[in-house]
Amino acid sequence: MDSSDEPDMTGVMVIEPMGNAGPFLVEAAARSGIRLYAATDARVHAGYEPWLTRGLAGVCLTELADTARALDDMEAFCRARRIAGVAVSWELLTPLAALLAARLGLPGNDPLRAKAARNKIAMARAFREAGVPAPAGAVVTGTEQAHRVAVSGRLGWPLVVKPAEQGGSWGVSVVDGPDGLDAAVAAAGLVTRAEPHGLALDPRVLLQSYVPGEEFSADTVVHEGVPYPLPVVRKDTTAGRYRVETGHSCPAGLDARTVRTIQETAARAALAVGVRNGIAHTEVKILPGGGPVVIETGARLPGDNICEIVEAATGVSEAAAYLQAVTGQVPDTAPTRDAAAAVRFVLPDRAGVLEHVVVPDLPGTHSRLHIRPGQRVPEPADSSGRVGHVVARAASVEEAGRLADRVIAGTRVKVG
Ligand SMILES: Nc1ncnc2c1ncn2[C@@H]1O[C@H](COP(=O)(O)OP(=O)(O)O)[C@@H](O)[C@H]1O
Ligand SMILES: [Mg+2]
Repeated sequence: MDSSDEPDMTGVMVIEPMGNAGPFLVEAAARSGIRLYAATDARVHAGYEPWLTRGLAGVCLTELADTARALDDMEAFCRARRIAGVAVSWELLTPLAALLAARLGLPGNDPLRAKAARNKIAMARAFREAGVPAPAGAVVTGTEQAHRVAVSGRLGWPLVVKPAEQGGSWGVSVVDGPDGLDAAVAAAGLVTRAEPHGLALDPRVLLQSYVPGEEFSADTVVHEGVPYPLPVVRKDTTAGRYRVETGHSCPAGLDARTVRTIQETAARAALAVGVRNGIAHTEVKILPGGGPVVIETGARLPGDNICEIVEAATGVSEAAAYLQAVTGQVPDTAPTRDAAAAVRFVLPDRAGVLEHVVVPDLPGTHSRLHIRPGQRVPEPADSSGRVGHVVARAASVEEAGRLADRVIAGTRVKVG
């Protein structure tokens, strides 16, 4: 399946490049003269789009849900091609990437701690042990236990109820009182296997105390255990029961000291879950009048086109820095640009069949649809309910946000 075999070029294996970070990895690899290989399942590979197929030098077909087999298949594949680094883009596959890098003797993350970057229960423990500020929490396996934790008053109200292993706000609810608890626990435990790879998920549910304040994300690229902070991004979400991301902006509009505090906290979170040679995407809330609290971290590039807005605003390519880190090079994280960018998502207010969607075309913006007319739009309870996105670039973040908001305000979506 190899289309290229130039021995001088560095080869990197990406465990499942399909997904939001994929195009940025493909582009950064091409720019850096890196051959990119993929490991995936045959049925997932069958759905690869042309941009991805074109960007790959070869594909290792395996069963990513079968760790032992996937490691054997990928090890043989990588050894035959003198692969110099292992990358990954799906959070649930980050422990597998750490195991593969360790097997191949390549720069990677600590395989003994890698589970903490995927599983929010292990993550909470790792944060506690490392003294990373994080919400108080409790693990439950059913509604009765959840009610017992709630009446104890230990976590207060509102309560955040979330699956141990998921992303994109799937199954996450903010609950104001005991009446909403049963439905929230059921929603958090609903999905037991993650598509498209059929990965088995930890069925336990995490209750957390609610952290008020504004939300940000901060990524950290790590080389030989040394963190290199990346630009801080402001995150907007829906309010209420479901917290779906509605947009991201860079720069974050914060003073330099707060930016540094967020970056330092994010770096500590990344190291706490064993990121040693790689990247981490960390979500942080700033308590009103207080300091940062880490909501979660993942040992992967960000999704949601954050790679695009960070590069548009600062010139820093997170994907290129990640490829440098996993191939043992010092990452290049110095900003080369002082501009701004924002992404906003088109989120219809209910489920149904998408009848039509018209996104206005304003100068300085570009948009893309994720769901086509005739397809089903799920309930706007998580990121799968997004119909599309718009990216705006401008000289200031206020202007970029205004532009993107104007496009969203002018978007006509009809769900039947
Ligand atoms: N303890 C919490 N306090 C306040 N908001 C939270 C808390 N946990 C999660 N959220 C909100 O819910 C969103 C999704 O939760 P998160 O833990 O990041 O799950 P996911 O892995 O699905 O992104 C967060 O971005 C945040 O807005
Ligand atoms: Mg999150």
